[in-house]
Amino acid sequence: MTETLPDDAAGIARAAALLRAGSLVAFATETVYGLGADATNGEAVAAIFAAKGRPRFNPLICHYPDAEAAFADAVADERARSLAETFWPGPLTLVLPRRESSRISSLASAGLPSLAVRVPAHPAAQALLAAVGRPIAAPSANRSGRISPTKAEHVLAGLDGRIDAVLVSGPTSVGLESTILDLTAEVAVLLRPGGTPVEALEAIVGPISRIDAASAITAPGMMASHYAPRLPLRLDAVAPEPGEAWLGFGAAQPEASLMVNLSSSGDLTEAAANLFGALHQLDAEGTARGLTRIAVAPIPHHGLGLAINDRLARAAAPRA
Ligand code: TXA
Ligand code: MG
Repeated sequence: MTETLPDDAAGIARAAALLRAGSLVAFATETVYGLGADATNGEAVAAIFAAKGRPRFNPLICHYPDAEAAFADAVADERARSLAETFWPGPLTLVLPRRESSRISSLASAGLPSLAVRVPAHPAAQALLAAVGRPIAAPSANRSGRISPTKAEHVLAGLDGRIDAVLVSGPTSVGLESTILDLTAEVAVLLRPGGTPVEALEAIVGPISRIDAASAITAPGMMASHYAPRLPLRLDAVAPEPGEAWLGFGAAQPEASLMVNLSSSGDLTEAAANLFGALHQLDAEGTARGLTRIAVAPIPHHGLGLAINDRLARAAAPRA
């Protein structure tokens, strides 16, 4: 049985006690719900992979209450410090050299000499980190290869009975996972576009190398067929064909028997927040109504549009 806990003081205290005892607890961050475990407990971290049904031991992001705690486990240079100053707490993950003194389970970082660290902004995540007093390793709280959860009900739909508890908060505000920036070499590399636009990072640290879509998909943990709904997707569509649900963007939209508009005002931040919820909804309702595909309107590629298009391309990729 998976306990559902309110995100009040008592719920946070219960969730923290479970995590300290090595259990798995899902909780809200501002990006998506995470599936948390004590990052210093190798068995608890291993249980994350089992619960998600992850085929491989991909490295996980370690969550901290503040930059000082994060930089006690990973080495921050000037770039990391200015980015942390500007964007933490918030949807940015930094990949940095792992300190030898770090007590993070080597499974959490998949035996790599680097560590992915992040300081989430969501008040429930902050309260939980403070109460646990240890870093929390947390991938998105979905079954491997499925769409990331932006609501507690999405978490339960995929993981009920496989995890110990869910700390229930409202829908997440950003709706896309954090941006991941690799700072282990002289050239900063964007490993995953996400909730912090890369243009905003470049304003602080200068040019960032973007690995192209094809090689991004071969980067650790970035499988092509990720975020997959059950129904196939058709991208950059002009209008739905018979049998298709419609995922729209912008003011002028075609008629469809089943449709969700990510943002009728064409706002990319609103679209990002709605993306995974819309895919969950179209997938469930479309399947129930016997539809066979989801057609998706074109989305601009700037700002958060880069991350939205990245997730759509993965959702549309041939299944592994
Ligand atoms: O917004 C988010 O980042 C959410 C919330 C829960 O914080 N977490 C999340 O975790 O999206 P996950 O496991 O779904 O994605 C983590 C990504 C993986 O693609 C993994 O390969 C990469 O981070 N990663 C983790 N550690 C790394 C490292 N040392 N080097 C390179 N990539 C790393
Ligand atoms: Mg994920």
